[in-house]
Amino acid sequence: MNNELPTTTLVIFGITGDLASRYILPALAKLDELGQLPENFRLLGLSRRQISSEDVLKGETSRLKKYLETTQMDMADPADYQKLKEKLPAQGQKIFYLSIPPAAVMPILRRLSAAGLNHGNTKLLLEKPFGYDLESARELISEIEECFKEDQVYRIDHYMAKEMAQNISVFLGSNALFRKIWNNQFIDSIDIIAAEKIGIEGRADFYEQTGALRDIVQNHLMNLAALTLMRPCGSLFEFEDMPERRLEALKSLKAADPNGAVRAQYDGYQDEVSNERSLVETFAAVTLESSDPRWHGVPIKLVTGKNLDTKVTEIRVRFKQTDESQANELCLRIQPKEGVEIDLWAKQPGFSHDLRHLPLSFDYAQGAERLPNAYEQVLVDAMRSRTSLFAGAGEVLETWRVLQPILEHWQMNSNINTYKPGVAVEQVLEADV
Ligand code: BG6
Repeated sequence: MNNELPTTTLVIFGITGDLASRYILPALAKLDELGQLPENFRLLGLSRRQISSEDVLKGETSRLKKYLETTQMDMADPADYQKLKEKLPAQGQKIFYLSIPPAAVMPILRRLSAAGLNHGNTKLLLEKPFGYDLESARELISEIEECFKEDQVYRIDHYMAKEMAQNISVFLGSNALFRKIWNNQFIDSIDIIAAEKIGIEGRADFYEQTGALRDIVQNHLMNLAALTLMRPCGSLFEFEDMPERRLEALKSLKAADPNGAVRAQYDGYQDEVSNERSLVETFAAVTLESSDPRWHGVPIKLVTGKNLDTKVTEIRVRFKQTDESQANELCLRIQPKEGVEIDLWAKQPGFSHDLRHLPLSFDYAQGAERLPNAYEQVLVDAMRSRTSLFAGAGEVLETWRVLQPILEHWQMNSNINTYKPGVAVEQVLEADV
């Protein structure tokens, strides 16, 4: 038991859904195993149909039986929100985790608010998407503001909660070596890449309305860009300033130029979604620029794609070459093999004077420490009211502002490249597929 956490009742809307079974419940089970749940923790699982704890908890998550109560609820019936209110203990905070399709979010929030469940010790945990474009994000945010205060809203971006993502800023800020050279005087370009081996995994309806730009670039990659470009934190004590620093970095990004963006779709996608005219991109690459003088002239490229040859998320920073030196590259690897790699140049051993690449790397997995999974981190941080890993409303709006020109351009144009499943990122970028 973690005595530092306040007594909490976690209410999950959509307990039978994919997100709950794949991420939320396993994360809670792990926290329980590690003794990281608060005293008197309670879990309330809501679902439209009648279900039992046994229906929900399987294998490793069975240990949550002692906390879980399942309840059938008609999400559209105000009377059921009164019943929910009566079920909630007077003591401790209540966190409502909305693990449900986006269209269902606002109706539920309005009913929670009408039932008086938005006061005092309540918080919301919300999953993306936060809007569909700039306009809809504005509407969503202002509608939520009518029901809940911003400091009650915790918007999850599980990439920001990945251990190495949290470390970017501390690593850069705490090492004089990097702190001094983290600017356009020394850095040539930054590439932030999230390649996936998997395809759309049967989520045809979701993906047809989303695409790679909205699914990954607008949130995960833009947030990694903000963490990379912001004024780094020198110490863990500055963690709480992170949202403000991220926001500052995002505000400095210029609206994207659609002409520099690439969209592509893997062969077979249209059959998979049964839409032979689909123009939805499964691969997107966007090059951004910052108006911050520190980053003037440094291209920041964000790339993501499904059905590629590898699963990797990394930030590659290329340093400038000078007359006397070669260009070095620093790779901050978010996953897998979380760590840092620096490409150095050294003399080839032996009689020649040739140079060769020498990777210097640090891999977290080499140590015995276990890295908490992103959902464990998100749940603990929401319980202890640490907002630094959650996206603020201002950040969400900025990310949409930057990408809006691309969204509009793509909507008006039908040009899209195709690529063969299993190819490398570079091949799609070179349209060599
Ligand atoms: C989700 C996207 O946000 O992130 C998925 O909706 C994607 O399409 C997933 O597969 C990737 O997450 P991770 O943690 O496996 O890299």
